[in-house]
Amino acid sequence: MRIEQIFEYDIDAQLKMKLQQLLIECFTDEYPKTRIYFKQIPHFRFLVFDDNNQLVGQVGLDYRVMNLNGRPITVIGVIDLCVSKNNRFQGIGTLLLKKIEGFCAGKSIDFILLFADNKKLYTNAGFKSVNNECRWLKIDDESQTTYGIGDERIHELMIKEVGKIKWEDGKVDLLGYLY
Ligand SMILES: CC(C)(COP(=O)(O)OP(=O)(O)OC[C@H]1O[C@@H](n2cnc3c(N)ncnc32)[C@H](O)[C@@H]1OP(=O)(O)O)[C@@H](O)C(=O)NCCC(=O)NCCS
Repeated sequence: MRIEQIFEYDIDAQLKMKLQQLLIECFTDEYPKTRIYFKQIPHFRFLVFDDNNQLVGQVGLDYRVMNLNGRPITVIGVIDLCVSKNNRFQGIGTLLLKKIEGFCAGKSIDFILLFADNKKLYTNAGFKSVNNECRWLKIDDESQTTYGIGDERIHELMIKEVGKIKWEDGKVDLLGYLY
């Protein structure tokens, strides 16, 4: 098993096809059929290949400045983390989270941030649920158009502190779309 980092603009047609298959398998028919992101492309991904060189897992990552109670914070966002059905419960999802955390070490990154309905994987990996009021850019993923600003508490929000700053209650402005 190996994990590779790839920038979005280096993904060729063959890899795109494999990613598309994996994403549709993992996120079912809701996933777009003609692209490998829901709303916006991530900046880079970690890809997991098994010993037969099959793609068995992936995660997209977004590097961004956000605003927490008026203060700029640097954030790595976790997008569409998934593992193929036949390879689940073997620690691959956890391995990807560890890979992200390792990647963040020593870099200008304050927090890893994600949104999850099912929090098990992330709680196990030391992420904590937070309950901030969020503001974000709303994108309709079907028409791929912007349609407004969201302002809401998002109960799916989870974070991990990977820098020197502590997370705070209060307002977080995502300064962009919500992944
Ligand atoms: C979530 C997912 C990536 C976990 O991958 P994995 O390789 O099986 O994960 P691990 O083996 O490292 O850990 C398994 C843990 O994840 C938990 N888990 C299972 N499905 C989950 C889900 N959809 N979200 C969060 N945690 C989940 C399991 O309960 C298990 O926890 P436990 O050991 O305490 O019971 C995989 O189930 C998946 O791809 N699901 C479909 C896509 C998805 O929902 N992704 C999450 C988007 S937020």
